[in-house]
Amino acid sequence: MRPASEAAGAVPFLGWGDRWSEAGETEGTVVMPVAIITGASKGLGRALAEALAARGWDLALDARSSRTLSEAAAAVAAHGTRVEAVPGDVTDAGHRRDLVAAARGLGGVDLLVSNASALGAEPLVRLEELPLEGLRRALEVNAVAALGLVQEALPLLRESAAGTVIAVSSDAAAEPYETWGGYGASKAALDQLAAVLGEEEPGLRVWAVDPGDMATDLYTAAVPDDDGARPAPASVVPAFLCLLDERPASGRYGAPCLLEGR
Ligand SMILES: NC(=O)c1ccc[n+]([C@@H]2O[C@H](COP(=O)([O-])OP(=O)(O)OC[C@H]3O[C@@H](n4cnc5c(N)ncnc54)[C@H](OP(=O)(O)O)[C@@H]3O)[C@@H](O)[C@H]2O)c1
Repeated sequence: MRPASEAAGAVPFLGWGDRWSEAGETEGTVVMPVAIITGASKGLGRALAEALAARGWDLALDARSSRTLSEAAAAVAAHGTRVEAVPGDVTDAGHRRDLVAAARGLGGVDLLVSNASALGAEPLVRLEELPLEGLRRALEVNAVAALGLVQEALPLLRESAAGTVIAVSSDAAAEPYETWGGYGASKAALDQLAAVLGEEEPGLRVWAVDPGDMATDLYTAAVPDDDGARPAPASVVPAFLCLLDERPASGRYGAPCLLEGR
């Protein structure tokens, strides 16, 4: 367990995969770090999984569609690391337990990425038409399940010498775009959970990250008529790697800003 002096303030980065022993010392044997990534069968989640596996991370991945997830996991495992595919819905508490158990089996949890997301309506609609059930679903997937997963993983995150939580947010959390109200409200809730978690857990890094627009199924489902050019998810991944390498303070970050000048 992380010693009190660490929990109280900033301590140098000890290395991904290192763990605190019962006595509050790092165990000294840095093993491969372990990440949980939700929504990792396609889009940004899969691109991030590929990049972390290429760096030697072991991974526990989820998505609802078992077949797409196992195909993605097999491709990611080609980098030579251990990849556990755990199909399920992040709103299911039993599934969240299974996901964290899979990570524990790989050695622990150094990084938890809440990336799976619901729009609330597909395509998006103005608030006057937004089904309240859709808003509930967006809140449940994007905010409630993300907190549930943090609660499940917290003991293991605290044991990691570099425990980190990434909440994948959106500029819709902060900007009032027409039709993005329900989704944006759920991402704003996620941002606030991440901000408070960062205060409550000073021994962890907690980053809410706005990846910017990307050409993915989620964007097409949101705005099917918008066929404008958008970056591929893989082009945004370096912003996440930059955070993992530089480990800035807990807070909210925008991928486009992190990538500026690179
Ligand atoms: N694309 C953009 O322009 C954009 C912009 C800003 C922020 N974002 C954020 O970026 C993140 C990734 O989005 P993306 O565009 O990469 O989406 P995507 O390509 O549609 O991928 C979404 C992933 O989440 C999984 N998923 C969805 N609901 C789930 C649930 N309830 N439980 C478990 N897995 C679930 C999907 O698989 P299954 O369907 O099989 O479950 C899939 O693997 C999201 O948080 C999104 O809000 C995207």
